[in-house]
Amino acid sequence: MADSLFSTVEPAPADPILGLTEAFRGDDNPNKVNLTVGVYQDETGTTPVLNCVRKAEERLAQAGNSKGYLSIDGDPGFGQRVRKLLFGDDHQHVSSGAAVTLQTPGGTGALRVAGEFLRKIGGSKIYMSKPTWANHRSVFTAAGLDVGEYSYLDGGNRWLNFPAMIEDLENLAAGSVILLHACCHNPSGSDPNGEQWEQVAETLSTRGIIPLVDFAYQGFGDGLNEDAAGLRTLAARCPEMLVCSSYSKNFGLYCERVGALTLVANDTTAAKHSLSQAKLCVRANYSNPPRHGAAIVSTILQDEELTSQWECELATMRNRIRSMREKLIAGLAESCPSQDFTHISSQRGMFSFSGLNAMQVDELREKYSIYIVRSGRINVAGLNDNNIGTLCKAVGEVAG
Ligand code: LMR
Repeated sequence: MADSLFSTVEPAPADPILGLTEAFRGDDNPNKVNLTVGVYQDETGTTPVLNCVRKAEERLAQAGNSKGYLSIDGDPGFGQRVRKLLFGDDHQHVSSGAAVTLQTPGGTGALRVAGEFLRKIGGSKIYMSKPTWANHRSVFTAAGLDVGEYSYLDGGNRWLNFPAMIEDLENLAAGSVILLHACCHNPSGSDPNGEQWEQVAETLSTRGIIPLVDFAYQGFGDGLNEDAAGLRTLAARCPEMLVCSSYSKNFGLYCERVGALTLVANDTTAAKHSLSQAKLCVRANYSNPPRHGAAIVSTILQDEELTSQWECELATMRNRIRSMREKLIAGLAESCPSQDFTHISSQRGMFSFSGLNAMQVDELREKYSIYIVRSGRINVAGLNDNNIGTLCKAVGEVAG
């Protein structure tokens, strides 16, 4: 046996997204710009606590609820509110019993529980878009699943290549599980349109493919219901599905880790049995979920006034991102006329695949202290009137 347990441990590579934020923190350039991790910032560069959240927290503090454990699957009231947001207030999945929800620590927690649950019930592989969120592969591999890919983009990652996507889905075996992004595809910002979602749903239902939908940005694209349209199209056609939703972005509750895993089964018995297996995964992992963040979300969603305040604050975030997206397109057209950035206007949500390559991204960081993910992904929600000129000018230098 070795003398020391830790002395031979090799250093792990930095996380492709969060590692850059660490590097940004260590950069002493006063003009540095962080456009890496998907966190919303307002025009002053601050990640605000929403007013509806402050009010909900006041109410929770006054109520002085116990700090006892929640059940393994969390608060059932939160679960029902989650299903209303996902499927719509009157949808059968809200209260039929064939859909069940576990409250999880963030959307990432939901993905991990989903992966372990799939593995437990005999799943062996999950297919994801090429490219996808940098952490998807790690989460599902850690859960014991193999990862396959389906085509998603072309034109240097600028546009959705829908025919190639559908062709790949048509070639999957019955019973395969595929990961789809409900809206605001991370990292590209390119989503299928309504007609294309119909085609995806048709392909999945005829071929017996199970969708696992990652829904982290509801309300950041076109609106709460608009962004759920793809998911609802799938729900109308696919009898079984998994939905991993996050409330980090749309409630600005990043560090509170609020998420949910919803399992939609053929009937109530199958849903109950599935929930019992998913609970075993949770118990062996983090035992039961944290309470505070989900209690904030529930407090807001069960109160009409707080809900409408939340919807307004969400619209403010969405509209600011949209206006920065437009300014980015105009700024790049001026600073870098030799390149075509028009694809950015068709993208939705926090992120934009700029089309910049890894060498150009490295140059932005090394020469100008502008941090974006090496895939060329820009967090548009980190742009403001003070830093957008710096970014456009620097892109003109490295790519013009
Ligand atoms: C991102 O893609 O930047 C976010 O989903 C945050 C994260 O954990 O990576």
